[in-house]
Amino acid sequence: MKINIIKLNHYYLDEVVKLHVESFPGYFITSLGYEFIKLFYKSHISNEYADALIALDEENKVVGSLLGVKNRAKFYNQLILSNGCMFLYYIIKNNILKPYTFIRLYNRYRKNEINNNFYSGVVLSSICIQQKMRKNGIATEIINKWIYNLKAQNYDMAYLETDATGNIAANNFYFKTGWDIYIKYSTYEGRVMNIYFRKI
Ligand SMILES: CC(C)(COP(=O)(O)OP(=O)(O)OC[C@H]1O[C@@H](n2cnc3c(N)ncnc32)[C@H](O)[C@@H]1OP(=O)(O)O)[C@@H](O)C(=O)NCCC(=O)NCCS
Repeated sequence: MKINIIKLNHYYLDEVVKLHVESFPGYFITSLGYEFIKLFYKSHISNEYADALIALDEENKVVGSLLGVKNRAKFYNQLILSNGCMFLYYIIKNNILKPYTFIRLYNRYRKNEINNNFYSGVVLSSICIQQKMRKNGIATEIINKWIYNLKAQNYDMAYLETDATGNIAANNFYFKTGWDIYIKYSTYEGRVMNIYFRKI
């Protein structure tokens, strides 16, 4: 099957958000609501420290996506400056009856020793492929394109974080595409996470 990998643009935003919601059921970001996720993806289009790639099939339907950040601190500063109020509005609107969400959000993004190192480099934030299109090499193609682009910009190391348990497809996928485990740790919620690194 022929796949075309392009940068995300506004035309494909709704399709890509739908793909994200289907691919990450029960995940924290998904629980923050459709509008939040859409704004999050949209922020990657206009932010110079972010990358957003999508894979289109032969009918130009979105079958895969990748989000990456080249400098996390600068990315979030720009994101807060440009859309901070809207993010806050969507979080409050969709989670007003779930106060625990705010604690999770705080814990997720506060700094700690482990993610200080990890977050100072290039980070792969998410990658997902439409369920029926998986195991066709599409994720490998997208990640290779992202790495190729980063190399051309002289970046030398990338990191990512994923659940260590109950997540065989993702962990196998990362091993297969050249990532190695940098560190394993438990979150304050007790989730065991793998942080991977890869030379670009
Ligand atoms: C993980 C994911 C992105 C892989 O996408 P994909 O297009 O199917 O991956 P590829 O076809 O490029 O697979 C490359 C390799 O990954 C591994 N892999 C992929 N899916 C696998 C599965 N279900 N079980 C075990 N290994 C798997 C295999 O080693 C595979 O190589 P092989 O086909 O030669 O065996 C996809 O399963 C997905 O979208 N999952 C839901 C979202 C997610 O978990 N994302 C990652 C965390 S951010």
